[in-house]
Amino acid sequence: MKNKKILIGVTGGIACYKICDLVSKLYKDGNDVRVIMTGNSTEFVSALTFETLSHNRVYCDTFRSENSYEINHIALSDWADVMLVAPASANIIAKFAQGIADDLLTTTYLAVKCPVLIAPAMNTNMLDHPATVENLAVLKSRGNYVIDPSFGYLACNKVGSGRLADINDIVISLKRVLSSNDFNGKHVIVTAGGTREPIDAVRYITNRSSGRMGHSLAEAAYVRGASVTLITASDIESVSSVINVIRCSSAAEMRDCVFKNIDCADILIMSAAVSDYTPSVKHEGKIKKKNGMNLELERTVDILKEVGATKSKDLYLVGFAAETDNLIGYAESKLKEKNLNMVVANDVSDKRIGFDSTENAVTIIKRSGDIFSTDIKNKSEISDIILDEIIKDI
Ligand code: CTP
Repeated sequence: MKNKKILIGVTGGIACYKICDLVSKLYKDGNDVRVIMTGNSTEFVSALTFETLSHNRVYCDTFRSENSYEINHIALSDWADVMLVAPASANIIAKFAQGIADDLLTTTYLAVKCPVLIAPAMNTNMLDHPATVENLAVLKSRGNYVIDPSFGYLACNKVGSGRLADINDIVISLKRVLSSNDFNGKHVIVTAGGTREPIDAVRYITNRSSGRMGHSLAEAAYVRGASVTLITASDIESVSSVINVIRCSSAAEMRDCVFKNIDCADILIMSAAVSDYTPSVKHEGKIKKKNGMNLELERTVDILKEVGATKSKDLYLVGFAAETDNLIGYAESKLKEKNLNMVVANDVSDKRIGFDSTENAVTIIKRSGDIFSTDIKNKSEISDIILDEIIKDI
């Protein structure tokens, strides 16, 4: 997300300090950010802070304008591609719901035609109060997007709902609202990470997959309007809470999760590195070393092959092929053997793009015979290229 005109309304609440990071990030990403502050919010963070981070003047007063012929609230509302109100206090939510226009933020809200996102932050009792619940429902029914607050430690020394949503979740929500939405109405399942095959109570076999590519694909599909289920065996990546995440561990568990969810999917992207072998016997306790250890392994189920053999013709199936040699040859045979619509092949012997890297380069091969390779790019760019190719076909 860059070159977007983002208008941020900041209201009074301790979570104001988190918006400093948000403004800084959005500016660094190449967006034009302007901030409106309510009188109460200036008690928590000074206008100078936002002015410094946004590299724009901050708007606090309805009756001052740089251009005398422009009225601030109209100028700002015409200018914005998107308006975000964060943190949104119970007071501002109530004013928006009632159409009250008694300061710059409320008058601008009434005047904007662009999408509006509201990120509430407040004490749990205020959030749960029927007035706030009803006011948020009114705003949603009028087409505003509410970014649900999270659960956790609150400034009032209590633990509960009402924490401002994670900044990363706010950014993802902004991206989704501003995206082409070309995956709107599609349900996408993405699998990710290396599965863990238990040996005993403390040991397991796994592989070097980090899960980054799958997590990035899930996020990119969400941003483009899809509803996304991420089935992940990875534990090193934090996943945005806006995505429906199902955690699993072994290949057998991942298979069950995939088959439980597949009926409502339009697209399955199997980017997980599913273990091909699992110990034949799983010991309940810890194996003592004095007893020695001989592992007998047996094959796991090939999830993708099973889906490919039983799927309805409408399910678009994407497999990955992680290879160290004969990239195209092996990838093409996986495409055929597993009945895929597309295979995404990558050379894991290349240290620049291999496991644990934030970058990747892939060769995409489609059932139609179309084939092309990307340069090395970060995994979010690669995700968008893969999604571009999927959406062309469906
Ligand atoms: N896959 C799967 N279930 C398995 C193994 C792999 O669903 N038990 C899926 C992977 O998620 C990936 C694709 O099959 O999308 C190819 O996986 P890969 O490990 O590259 O190949 P394999 O089919 O396992 O074959 P080989 O290990 O011999 O290369």
